[in-house]
Amino acid sequence: MAEHSNIPRMRKKRVYIETYGCQMNAADSEVVLSLLAQDGYEVTNTLVDADVVLANTCSVRENAEQRIYGRLGEFKRLKNSRPDVLIGLIGCMAERLRTKLTAEKAKGVGQIVDMIVGPDEYRRMPELVHRAWHGEKGIAVQLSRVETYDDIVPLRTSGISAWISVMRGCDKFCSFCVVPFTRGRERSRTLASVVREVEILSSRGFKEVTLLGQNVNSYRDENRDFADLLRSVAEVDSSIRIRFTTSHPQDMSDKLIETIADHTNICKFIHLPVQSGSDRILELMNRTYDRARYLGLLYRIRTRIPDVSLSTDIITGFPSETEDDHQKTMELMEHVRYDGAFTFKYSPRENTPAFKMLDDVPDAIKTLRINEIIDQQQKISLQKNQEMVNHTYEVLVESESKKSPVEWQGRTDGNKMVVFPKGNFKAGDYITVKILRANSATLFGSTEKSHSQIELPIEEAA
Ligand code: 5AD
Ligand code: SF4
Repeated sequence: MAEHSNIPRMRKKRVYIETYGCQMNAADSEVVLSLLAQDGYEVTNTLVDADVVLANTCSVRENAEQRIYGRLGEFKRLKNSRPDVLIGLIGCMAERLRTKLTAEKAKGVGQIVDMIVGPDEYRRMPELVHRAWHGEKGIAVQLSRVETYDDIVPLRTSGISAWISVMRGCDKFCSFCVVPFTRGRERSRTLASVVREVEILSSRGFKEVTLLGQNVNSYRDENRDFADLLRSVAEVDSSIRIRFTTSHPQDMSDKLIETIADHTNICKFIHLPVQSGSDRILELMNRTYDRARYLGLLYRIRTRIPDVSLSTDIITGFPSETEDDHQKTMELMEHVRYDGAFTFKYSPRENTPAFKMLDDVPDAIKTLRINEIIDQQQKISLQKNQEMVNHTYEVLVESESKKSPVEWQGRTDGNKMVVFPKGNFKAGDYITVKILRANSATLFGSTEKSHSQIELPIEEAA
C-alpha cells in the first residue's frame, strides 16, 4: 500500500473498470488503474467484488452512449444492494455531458454516479475517490493543452501487446465528430519518453506495441514528426512489432511511407479512414481531401509498400447523402479493395458543425446502405483472405483461440487473424504458418517453425 494511502481499512479496496469505445480509452484505463494502484487499490475483473466501479465512456455515436446508460442502470442495482460502492463515470461522456449530468444530480445518472471525470483530469482520480468515500460527489472535467500523462507507467495486463498513447486530442474538426470537444486540443508526448517506454516493454518481453493517437500523424516533439518517432521506436528492438493508429489522410507524408517501408518490424498495415467516396460529402464533412487526392495517396503507399494491408472507416447516411453519393462510396471501396472496413451510420452529435445540418437520411435508408457496404466488404475480405491460402506468413502467437482450447490465435503483419494448432508454441513466439482455409474474418493454418525474431530479408540478415 502506498505510504500516503487514502484507504482507511486493512483490506485493499478493489477497483473495477469497464472500457468503451476506441483504443485511446483502453490506454487511458491503464493510466487510471496505474494511478489508483499507486494509491493502494487492487484491480479486480469482477464487478461484484468491486469497491469502486468505473465506466470509461465513449461519446462518438449515440448508440455508444445508450449502451452506457443501460449499464449505469445495472450499476444502480449494485449500489442499491451495496450502498458503499462508489461509481465513477469517466472519459468522453463525462466531458460531453458534464452540465447535463450535474444538473441531473438530484435524479437519474447524477444520483448513481459519485465521480464524473473527463479525459484530462485522471491525475485527480485518487483525490476524487478519497473525497467520494467521505460522501462528497466530485466532478473534474477541465480540458488541458499540455496533459499527456507522460510520466505515468500504465498498468498493463497483457504481456505481449501494449498500447502506447503518443498524442492526445484532435484539431481536425471533422464536421460530424465530437472528439475535438471531448478530448480537446492536440498535444504530444516527448519522443524520449515514448522510446523509454518501449525500452522498458522490450526488457519485459513485450512483442508488439501500437502507438496511439486520435490523429497520430500530427505527432510533434519540437522538430521531430511522427515518422521520426516511428523510426526511433522501431530501432529499439527488432523483435517488437510496431503498429500505429489512427492516421488522417491529410498528414500521411511520403517520409512516413518511406519509414514504414524501410523497417521490417513496422507492420505493413495502415488504417486510413476515408469516411465517404463522394467529394461533395467529403467537403461537407470537412475532411480536407477529395477522392482523387485520397486515391493518389493510396497509389503512393501501394507503390512503395506493395504488400501493405489497408483498412478504413466509412460513415453512411451523412446529411444530404444521396443514392449517387452512396454509390460513389461503393465504387471507391470496390476500386481500393480494403482488407477491412469499419462502417457506421451517421449519428448527429450536439455542438458539432454537422449537428446544424438536417439529419435527412431516414434510418431505414441508412440501414440499407450500411448493409450494402458491409456485404461488399465481406466479399472483398473473403476474396483477399482466400488469395492467402497455400501461402505462408509470419504470425505472432497472441492468445488461446476464442473457439478452441487446443488452438492459438495470432495476427500476421497485415493484421489478419490466424487460428492454428497449439503445438509447443507459446504466446509471444513468432511462427511461420501455412494458410489452409479462410473465411472473411479469419484464416486457419498449420504451423511449420518458430523463431524469436522478425525475420529479415536475406540481404539485410547477411
Ligand atoms: N456518426 C457516425 N460515425 C462517426 N464517427 C465519428 N463520429 C461519428 C458520427 N457522428 C466514426 C468515424 C471515425 C470513427 C472512429 O467513428 O468513421 O473515423
Ligand atoms: Fe474526429 Fe476527424 Fe479528429 Fe478523427 S480526425 S478524431 S474523425 S475530428
